Amino acid sequence: MNFLAIETSCDETAVAVFTDDLEVRANVVASQTELHARFRGVVPEVAARAHLERLLPTLDEALRQANLQLADIGCIAVLNSPGLVGALLVGVSAAKMLALALDVPLVAANHIEAHIYACRMAAGRDIFPCVGLVVSGGHTSLFHCRSALAFDLLGATIDDAAGEAFDKVAAILGLGFPGGPAVEREAQCGDPRAHQFPRSFLNQERLSFSFSGLKTAVLYALHGKNVSEGPAPPPGKQRADLAASFQQAVVDVLAAKCRQALDKTGLQRLAVGGGVAANRCLRSHLEALTREAGAELLIPPMSLCTDNAAMAAIAVEKWRQGAYAPMDLDAVATWSQ
Ligand code: KG4
Ligand code: ZN
Repeated sequence: MNFLAIETSCDETAVAVFTDDLEVRANVVASQTELHARFRGVVPEVAARAHLERLLPTLDEALRQANLQLADIGCIAVLNSPGLVGALLVGVSAAKMLALALDVPLVAANHIEAHIYACRMAAGRDIFPCVGLVVSGGHTSLFHCRSALAFDLLGATIDDAAGEAFDKVAAILGLGFPGGPAVEREAQCGDPRAHQFPRSFLNQERLSFSFSGLKTAVLYALHGKNVSEGPAPPPGKQRADLAASFQQAVVDVLAAKCRQALDKTGLQRLAVGGGVAANRCLRSHLEALTREAGAELLIPPMSLCTDNAAMAAIAVEKWRQGAYAPMDLDAVATWSQ
């Protein structure tokens, strides 16, 4: 049985083809990064229009790579929440239209849960139960994942997501967009102990995150207290130290909360998804903490960390249970379980 899956929640137009035994036959992503770079962030209206232009060519390319035709597709999957609602609507409308035209079931899944399911796809075996960390441009959340379809939220950010903080700090430091990879590169030459930036909730039991104060702390360290903006620093030690100290603060908090979540749940597996999971400093800290805790660490390769449609294979689990989506399926901007 072949599934065709669509993901358009933010700035990647993604279509994948996979089978009901989770073999990925195509995983195509058309990135819009260059369209949003000059705005130093994703512009929702620009993203939605670009999805409209790119979705059908991306779908054609996925079918070509899978060596299949539309008539070979037995189910349509779509990630309908959370995300930018205008962007999501493009994928949801296309998915409904395809399901109707092909007369096949439609299955909807949650983008955040799908990020964790990417670890299942990469592992090639069952990974549940596990602690799940989703750390991306839009989300920083910890879950107790009891099974592929039963996620309990343990905690989340109360303001900015970690990736959003990387993007904002990159803008402050004049490092371009997307900020994560640029800050990581800059941090390589910096001293992570040069600045003692805040680590919110670090010594508290609650599994929440907060990154907006950290971003402001970087701004103040650069321009002085209570200065809301100023020119980006030139390349050099000051800029590298700011990047390295910022990155270390984010990583320290993420790692500490993962350790707390493992201890609290008694689980011995940590699955990490989302674009920030590509960060090497984060990966090495998570490797060290899982080793120390006697737990297993699952982080997918880059192509499955950032937004993609192969992670929508979580829909296969729903399809098995007959949990089809109705034809009045909506795009939902905020997190829903
Ligand atoms: O999962 P993703 O592709 O999209 C969302 O669902 O948001 O994540 C994108 C985010 C961006 O904020 C980007 O700056 C961040 O992931 N990112 C990184 C790295 N690569 C991407 N953050 C830190 N270090 C990286 N190497
Ligand atoms: Zn995402």
